[in-house]
Amino acid sequence: MTSYNLVILPGDGIGPEVMAEVRKVMAWLSSNKDVSFNVHEDKIGGAAYDEYGVPFADSTLEKCRASHAVIMGSVGGPQWDNVPYDKRPEAGLLRARKELGLFANLRPALVFDALVDASTLKPEIVRGLDILIVRELTGGVYFGEPRGIEDLGHGERRGVNTQVYTTSEIKRVGRVAFELARKRNGRVTSCEKANVMESGKLWREDITALHKAEYGDVTLEHMYADNCAMQLLRNPRQFDVIVTDNLFGDILSDEAAMLTGSLGMLPSASLGSDDTPGLYEPVHGSAPDIAGQNKANPLATILSFSMALRYSLSRGDLADMIEKAVQNVLNAKIRTADIMADGCILASTSAMGDSLIKELDSGLAKAA
Ligand code: IPM
Ligand code: MG
Repeated sequence: MTSYNLVILPGDGIGPEVMAEVRKVMAWLSSNKDVSFNVHEDKIGGAAYDEYGVPFADSTLEKCRASHAVIMGSVGGPQWDNVPYDKRPEAGLLRARKELGLFANLRPALVFDALVDASTLKPEIVRGLDILIVRELTGGVYFGEPRGIEDLGHGERRGVNTQVYTTSEIKRVGRVAFELARKRNGRVTSCEKANVMESGKLWREDITALHKAEYGDVTLEHMYADNCAMQLLRNPRQFDVIVTDNLFGDILSDEAAMLTGSLGMLPSASLGSDDTPGLYEPVHGSAPDIAGQNKANPLATILSFSMALRYSLSRGDLADMIEKAVQNVLNAKIRTADIMADGCILASTSAMGDSLIKELDSGLAKAA
């Protein structure tokens, strides 16, 4: 029996209700498999601001550092629109990523067969889609200095942010992308704007050098980020792994997510060096419009927990089991509102979690 220390940060909006369903899956694994979880629950985002006066407290950071993995819900909501800019809920998440050194953000965009009609694109374009975006997460314009809003006088102001990357920042995320491509279909597309930005030119040169030195067996292609945005809609299946910077990754991963039909299905993993805990969170936001209504889709957060099992806890076998159960639930036409279709059964957040547990039970019964 292996015991893992997990920090759970439900956060704001729908975060707490989707996390409650993850808890059911944890409890199921503890009762039925050779694992147990020692869970510390804490706050992030607006919830942390209300409790601690900051969106990510030092004490929470220490707990995260001492854990094997951190599972997060979502942050943000209109009730914090007027808090100081450096204390807004999103700043908590950015601080967590930075302090934990989580430089590589893995965002898979996978189209489940049962959901092929949920996409706004034609089924023949997205059927079988399986791409992985590797987004740089602790550098670029999100953190570059100088930054700020300057008063120039006479009612004129100047807003500044800095796009900056070093060779080591580029190569370490590039390495993650090449390694993952080796375990997938052996192709990496690296995206920047080398035609306009020096940081993009450096990105292209460093990725090229890394490829030449260590990853000759992987196919590398370079693409301008705007073209990538277009190609994702034109022919998304041409991609295997996409590696890109923090800001382009933010945008392209939302676009890739929508190819699959619902943000409610998409997990993500943020990874640092081997000895730091990963942070796992759904790609969707806090959805304040449906918060507290038991309507949200818990699968993205459950699949994020499954990524934690795979990447931080080395339990790919348990991750496979959860992912299979998710597929079976979808094949059984059980749907939350975001992925509802004709002839399907509408499920609440908690009913979706319960259906998944039933699937896990029946998988166990079959195996016995
Ligand atoms: C994301 C989100 C965040 C980001 C926000 C909430 C700060 O959009 O994880 O993609 O921009 O990174
Ligand atoms: Mg985003």
